[in-house]
Amino acid sequence: MEASSDTIPRKLLDWYDAHARDLPWRARPGTEAPDPYRVWLSEVMLQQTTVAAVRGYYAEFTRRWPTVEELAAAADEEVMAAWAGLGYYARARNLLACAREVAARGGEFPGTEEGLRALPGLGAYTAAAVAAIAFGRRAVVVDANVERVVARLFALDEPLPGGRAAIREKADAITPATRGGDFAQAMMDLGATVCTSRSPRCLLCPLAARCAARALGEPGRFPVKAPK
Ligand code: ADE
Repeated sequence: MEASSDTIPRKLLDWYDAHARDLPWRARPGTEAPDPYRVWLSEVMLQQTTVAAVRGYYAEFTRRWPTVEELAAAADEEVMAAWAGLGYYARARNLLACAREVAARGGEFPGTEEGLRALPGLGAYTAAAVAAIAFGRRAVVVDANVERVVARLFALDEPLPGGRAAIREKADAITPATRGGDFAQAMMDLGATVCTSRSPRCLLCPLAARCAARALGEPGRFPVKAPK
């Protein structure tokens, strides 16, 4: 981590301790680490789908299949029917393939980004998110919300998608050694509720004083998208 950015994680984690969204797949503050199965399930559902749309599906899946072994034992048609409406059906097929692989290995998810990445359907984002949130690992977790927050914090103006490498590098630089899952989810919450794409609410932002895009007076300009 760069010396000049050492207060970013601290400010963000303080903000998260006070303002984290209460989401069903999160451990309550001060409680044990969340269940890797539930974290994984929520992250697969949240790819390309909003938190609001996912809530009901998440509740139904965890009610019907409370463990990865139970999901692994479900009939394909049953799971596909329960998934109906979430879209991107390849995700549901990968979900089942992954559940069956984890069940076949004794029901434990691997606890590292690398081990998770080897499971069916787990891309770089999901592996990093589960490693951080379920296992507290230091992992660089970059989704579209995080991308926007980081591009603004450092006024990174290289257009996407090429600019993603620089965004990742800065995200890595501000990721703390501990509280990996909280840091990742704090960045997501900040992007979803404060550093929003259309009208960022900088007056509420714990990082406003350190934000280069705000200093330029134009947070909305970042991230820059390549012209179509
Ligand atoms: N989007 C994807 N994963 C999320 C999480 N764990 N919390 C909030 N938003 C998310």
